Amino acid sequence: MTRHTIGLLLGTEDDWPSAFEEILRRLGPVDGPGGPHSFDCERITIEPFSLRDKPRYDLVIDRLAYWYYHPREWLKKVAMMDGVYLLNSPFTFQSMEKHAAYCAMMRLGLKVPETVLVPYKNPVDNSRYAYTAARYNQSFDLDAIAQKIGYPLFMKPYDGGAWRGVSRINNVAELHAAYDASGEMLMHLQKAIDFDVFARSLSIGAETMVMKFQPDQPMHQRYAVEHDFLGPDAGQEVVTIGRLVNAFFKWEFNSCETLVKGGDVYPIDYANACPDVALTSLHYYWPWAMKALVKWSVFALATSRKARLDLETDRYLAVADEPGLSYGEKLGEYRKLADAYFETERYQDFCATSLSRLDQLVLDWVTGPDFDRLLVRTVQSVYPEHEHDRFIAHLRGLLHLWVRDESARLSAA
Ligand SMILES: Nc1ncnc2c1ncn2[C@@H]1O[C@H](COP(=O)(O)OP(=O)(O)O)[C@@H](O)[C@H]1O
Ligand SMILES: [Mg+2]
Repeated sequence: MTRHTIGLLLGTEDDWPSAFEEILRRLGPVDGPGGPHSFDCERITIEPFSLRDKPRYDLVIDRLAYWYYHPREWLKKVAMMDGVYLLNSPFTFQSMEKHAAYCAMMRLGLKVPETVLVPYKNPVDNSRYAYTAARYNQSFDLDAIAQKIGYPLFMKPYDGGAWRGVSRINNVAELHAAYDASGEMLMHLQKAIDFDVFARSLSIGAETMVMKFQPDQPMHQRYAVEHDFLGPDAGQEVVTIGRLVNAFFKWEFNSCETLVKGGDVYPIDYANACPDVALTSLHYYWPWAMKALVKWSVFALATSRKARLDLETDRYLAVADEPGLSYGEKLGEYRKLADAYFETERYQDFCATSLSRLDQLVLDWVTGPDFDRLLVRTVQSVYPEHEHDRFIAHLRGLLHLWVRDESARLSAA
């Protein structure tokens, strides 16, 4: 038996870690190359570490390092020195915030809306700033930049997340109000896309779920349960873009927001180091996400998948620069590179053979009392008391819907 230990690096969440631990426990040992493999799972604690310590983990799912720097540096140490496999390495996530991701995907020819980075509104807190700015900062005409992009537009931080500092701007007065309020945040101006559909995809390793997203709704209603809401071409394109972004940066657990208008797909936000996987927001899609996390972790460990720290972007750039390739042909080539990186076929074979019992096992779990207790506990920790009954009923309804659809799918198979 080859034993593997998975570490979870967590913040405030308890819903998905409980699910992950439970599914892994119910799954038990798995046949893989070289015989059976077993998986233990532990929540990582924060403590002093010697840079030469040997970690107890073979793989870590990180949900914390995007803001907590002690574990971030520990992750870098274990990735660099000990070959620990990470779902999301701070080496790329830390250096590739939204702005760098925009640049990369523009470079590959994707339809990122027109975007301009403007200098800080307020002086940066640095004793050298006044001299440097007086000498080298060009004065610029904010109105003219906005005019050129065209209204409406969005002003948002170059490294944003969770809608912090995002505003939709319709005219010059709003432009100045938003820029004045931006203070020491560094802001993009971006052309607004007047989209027909907002498609948000969540990718975990070689799997991608495309969901219809309704940004105007409250959190618990943002993901609509609607299948085939994109035509087959746009649907494929959204999957390809999500997988391309991830393969390009070697991100393995990430969400990608795309705006679809007519036949065009515009990616607008795809550097999410800690994507939303809350039961209360993903609801119907949550069992899929939990399975995908378990499957990808088990696959990576059982097949000794090696973490790669270098990005090898040349192969993608060569496609971008290939003369005579249409946008669609480039996407096709990117998809091949991305699927090769994620070993998509090998992963699917592995799931079909070594993890064939997982679907039924998760269906049984979601149907049973343990899952319901987790659902109730989660609602109680997220919502104020007077809303508990309402949200418990709401979530139970959506999960019942999933159970019905999944039962039908498994009996058809
Ligand atoms: N170019 C755009 N066109 C239309 N809507 C946009 C655009 N950029 C941002 N938005 C809206 O603003 C929201 C937040 O912007 P986003 O780039 O996703 O930042 P964050 O990283 O904070 O999530 C998006 O979910 C979308 O609803
Ligand atoms: Mg976003």
